[in-house]
Amino acid sequence: MRKIVLTALCAVALAVNAQFGRPQIQHISFKDAYKDYFMVGVAVNQRNISQPEQIALVKQEFNSITAENDMKPGMIHPKEGEWNWENADKIANFCRQNGIKLRGHNLLWHSQMADWMFYDKKKNLVKKEVLFKRMREHIHTVVNRYKDVIYCWDVVNEAIKDGPARPAFMGGKDQPLRESTFYKICGNDEFIRKAFEYAREADPNALLFYNDYNECDPVKRDRIYNMVKEMKAAGVPIDGIGMQGHYNIYGPSEEDMEAAISKYEEIVDHIHITELDIRVNQEMGGQLRFSRNEGAVITNDQKLLQENKYAELFRVLRRHKAKVDCVTFWNLCDADSWVGVNNYPLPFDKDLKPKNVHTVLTHFDPAIDTQVIKEDFVPCATCQPRQQYPQVNSQGFVRFRVVAPDAKYVICSAGLGGGMSGTVLKKQKDGSWMGTTLKPEDEGFHYYTISVDGAQVLDPGTNSYYGGSRWQSGTEVPAHDGAFYADRTDIEHGCVQKILFPSKVNGNQLRPAYVYTPAGYGKNPKQRYPVLYLQHGWGENETSWPVQGKANIIMDNLIAEGKALPFIVVMTYGMTNDIVFGQGFDRNKLADDFQKVLVDELIPYVDSHFLTKADKKNRAMAGLSMGGMETHAITLARPEVFGSWGILSGGMYTPEELKGKKVDYIFISCGSKEGPDRIRKAVDDLKAAGYNAESYISEGTAHEFLTWRRSLYQMAQKLFKK
Ligand code: XIL
Repeated sequence: MRKIVLTALCAVALAVNAQFGRPQIQHISFKDAYKDYFMVGVAVNQRNISQPEQIALVKQEFNSITAENDMKPGMIHPKEGEWNWENADKIANFCRQNGIKLRGHNLLWHSQMADWMFYDKKKNLVKKEVLFKRMREHIHTVVNRYKDVIYCWDVVNEAIKDGPARPAFMGGKDQPLRESTFYKICGNDEFIRKAFEYAREADPNALLFYNDYNECDPVKRDRIYNMVKEMKAAGVPIDGIGMQGHYNIYGPSEEDMEAAISKYEEIVDHIHITELDIRVNQEMGGQLRFSRNEGAVITNDQKLLQENKYAELFRVLRRHKAKVDCVTFWNLCDADSWVGVNNYPLPFDKDLKPKNVHTVLTHFDPAIDTQVIKEDFVPCATCQPRQQYPQVNSQGFVRFRVVAPDAKYVICSAGLGGGMSGTVLKKQKDGSWMGTTLKPEDEGFHYYTISVDGAQVLDPGTNSYYGGSRWQSGTEVPAHDGAFYADRTDIEHGCVQKILFPSKVNGNQLRPAYVYTPAGYGKNPKQRYPVLYLQHGWGENETSWPVQGKANIIMDNLIAEGKALPFIVVMTYGMTNDIVFGQGFDRNKLADDFQKVLVDELIPYVDSHFLTKADKKNRAMAGLSMGGMETHAITLARPEVFGSWGILSGGMYTPEELKGKKVDYIFISCGSKEGPDRIRKAVDDLKAAGYNAESYISEGTAHEFLTWRRSLYQMAQKLFKK
């Protein structure tokens, strides 16, 4: 018996794992995933192009490269007449040899600049004519040297200032330029115009970019937009805008990204995301003073927020692929990142392994990029009185709203959001947070919780449902076939009562069970009823079948329509909730303990307190998920007790393990999204071996309650009929 139980439990554990665990997803490289959209690039240091493992990763994933530091004026041209080509040449040669496109970064920047250009021998600022001459010589020399391999240049980097617009009461125009040494020498933007002219002279074929950070911030965005627009009108050869993209998990918002790209698109034909990373603290931008998040521990919420932010951004970028033609990550992996490994900013971790962000970004569904969500949302059937949210629309999208005005973030665990495992809510002007699932949810019932700044709480909008070893919130997406569990006022209803029965297993205590008795039960004391013992899954309890399972409503409707015989359903707690997935548990003890409670304590109690037909033929056991696993173990261990056996998304029986056992009826089911073939095959094998077995597959559902409501509906019609 021990062996049978163990094998059975192993099989089900595997099945459940396949259903709960992250599916094994095939790796697709960035450049392949985005071949119809834009190039995907990476900023490299010398290690990235000299160590074999890193070279392999660069070549596998990216088709554009930027030198992180090695082509900046300060590196390449530290003194007048002194040139440091070595590192820059190595990067250029790497690109030449491997046929990878090279972005030039950069020709002019206030930081990491060849500062000598600003000063004369006496350390006084030079006249602008001197500066321009030096700039021209620098630009011509560098651009010419890499003409064959560099296809575009960040000509001017970060020339626009940060900060709010000049308030109206101060009068005058907003001065948009950063007060850099260039600006001090020129007093205006002439150095920018000149830099572009020199670059165009040097290489008429290279695409020339103006590059800056915080470029989605509406004030800075408009400063960049106005400057480039005005310069282009005056004939300055600017081909593109580089959006650096040093973001964080809280911002910029999808709306601000969309607005910035849409504006830039009006004035240039090329938009590059030039330096993408998304850090987990609240800082952003290209400023060189920031926190590296030292000592901080990355939480699962932060990971999800980051996946969501990356996914949001890439949805925007894909929508704008006509003008977005290259997206470059700033550094290869977290260990390389300029914002520090503890900021967890990139799709590859400190050991060069792809994170879930990579999967999210490479396994996108293009249909979602442009989907239109119908605004016909109505409150869910699970809402508490007078609550308006969560809501569901006619396509099955679910929308959440939580009021938490001072929260930093709010995440709902339901829905396939950016991180594939939740919906990130967005702060609204009224202080509430709202979010809509990325895809329509499956029809039927779904559990969820809300994380407000990391605290897992219930949504005050809905009723509570026991699942996941705690009370959770729930949504209900109307099912097209939902009539079988609809409330009907035109029929007689049975009754669900809570009983407490004494138990000696694990100490002396009362254990609960809900007992459904059909309409008319007890009117004729001579009428006795068959009994189905129906088990919930892991994380649930005795309330799960009668509440979210709607077991009694399903039975009432079936019996009223004459489709099922009237029978009693007993739903008790299956003792599954001390099990923590991943921490291992004593499988034998679980099945043995619950077997004693069920067979030696509950069944005698029910038979002595209710009008039951107390024999094997009129007794069935079935369960969902881990309850199916218990059903499997207990029916095989005590075949003399139950005549009919049902497993719902919880494994299967094999002819071998049934050998020598008499069973009237076997029902095995699962959702079509749970690998249904093995269920069909198991039932075919049982039939071939002469057993009265049936399979049922719930179309369009997964490991969730609509699968089990439908399964009960099907199974109940067959029970106790012969
Ligand atoms: C950063 C590099 O990543 C660091 O290694 C260096 O110390 C400072 O510069 N905006 C830019 C990039 O345009 O050149 C900067 O790169 C990051 C901000």
